[in-house]
Amino acid sequence: MQPLSKLPKLLLVNIGQLLTLQSASPVPRRGASLSELGLIEDAAVLCLGGKIVSVGKTKNALRDPWIKKHGKQIAEIDCRGRVVLPGFVDSHTHPVFTHPRLVDFEKRIPGASYEEIAKAGGGIRSSIDGVRKATKLALTEKLLTTLNAMATHGTTTVEAKSGYGLDFASELKSLEAIRAAARQWPGTVVPTFLGAHTVPPEFREKRQAYVDLICNEMMPAIAKRKLAQFADVFCDRGAFTAQESEQIFRAAHENGLVLRAHMGQLSETRLSPFLRFNPASLDHMDYVNEADLPALSASSTVATFVPGANYFLGLSRYPNARRFIEAGVAVALATDFNPGSSPTLSMPMAMSLACTHMKMSPAEAIAAATINAAHALRLADRKGSIEPGKDADLAVFGITDYRELPYWFGTNHCRLTILNGVVSHLPES
Ligand code: NIG
Ligand code: FE
Repeated sequence: MQPLSKLPKLLLVNIGQLLTLQSASPVPRRGASLSELGLIEDAAVLCLGGKIVSVGKTKNALRDPWIKKHGKQIAEIDCRGRVVLPGFVDSHTHPVFTHPRLVDFEKRIPGASYEEIAKAGGGIRSSIDGVRKATKLALTEKLLTTLNAMATHGTTTVEAKSGYGLDFASELKSLEAIRAAARQWPGTVVPTFLGAHTVPPEFREKRQAYVDLICNEMMPAIAKRKLAQFADVFCDRGAFTAQESEQIFRAAHENGLVLRAHMGQLSETRLSPFLRFNPASLDHMDYVNEADLPALSASSTVATFVPGANYFLGLSRYPNARRFIEAGVAVALATDFNPGSSPTLSMPMAMSLACTHMKMSPAEAIAAATINAAHALRLADRKGSIEPGKDADLAVFGITDYRELPYWFGTNHCRLTILNGVVSHLPES
């Protein structure tokens, strides 16, 4: 008999609440549709060869002639009344680093701000050295540990950014580590080039030369080797100006990389010049001009909130999610996993913060962490919902009501994760 984790045929039965997140049309959820979970009670899901093949009621699945005939080859998972939902899509993470930033953490407690610490040479810059000195293998192994930990919290798709190497060789090494870890992890990893994370110290007096290096050398080499699908820019006070970011967006576009950006975390930037490039997502969005919301909602760009960063930096201000939802903007949630502003890899934690601090409902938070996050990665044809034909990415939680997902914060209730049909996480039953 094959071990359960390798069996390509899986039947989940006795699901108390199955959140399918099925949509009538292949567009992101906006407004009221953000709360539609496609809930089926007493449900079953059949997965074959890493894909979902059917979704329905347990009693119908158990009567199905094909399932009866192939029963011996199918691994049955009794969900015992629990909640099953699409594996989370964590669409914004910075997982390629070597050390936690404990000095920054301690400095913030008596009152130093993220920006003050960065100006004094801490912040992102203090993560550069570790990555430059690390071998590709060491980065790969660390990343794999992180991806496995994410899976134990229900995450099956992860966007992974470079951005702590910040020289040609170290950015390439970071993206190669992402590729190597992705090949060993059963889930799905989406690589993003974030050379424009901050200006590294050796370019402090010649920042334009660094922007040119990103655009003229790093970007073409990365695109040629297909090391990234997306290019990201930290467009903000103390990072890259709107003008520099536009140059980077143009170069990314010319090199066939899809765009995403850190926008409005510390200060406001007007969005129209960027929306012209049709970015997949604009992330953080703490400071956004109201006048930009109509254009944002008319676009296919997703606004991704990362409340873990607000929480960890001790900020009382969070993005005004209700305003975005009312304006018809497609919103997503992500962890922003990184050593400086958000060292959490738990999507339920991000969802809990979205409910308690951003006034999103549990249903909205779930859709934002699954189907809309899949749209933020342009992967919604394969990810983010439980529908026949989609990848078999599912998470089983030891709860009986979906509202418990964001309710129990600080405790992991994920009991089992299925990544592209592979059962990777089976703690106590
Ligand atoms: O999303 N804001 C830019 N990047 C990260 C922080 C990275 C760091 O501090 O290491 C963020 O919050
Ligand atoms: Fe980030």
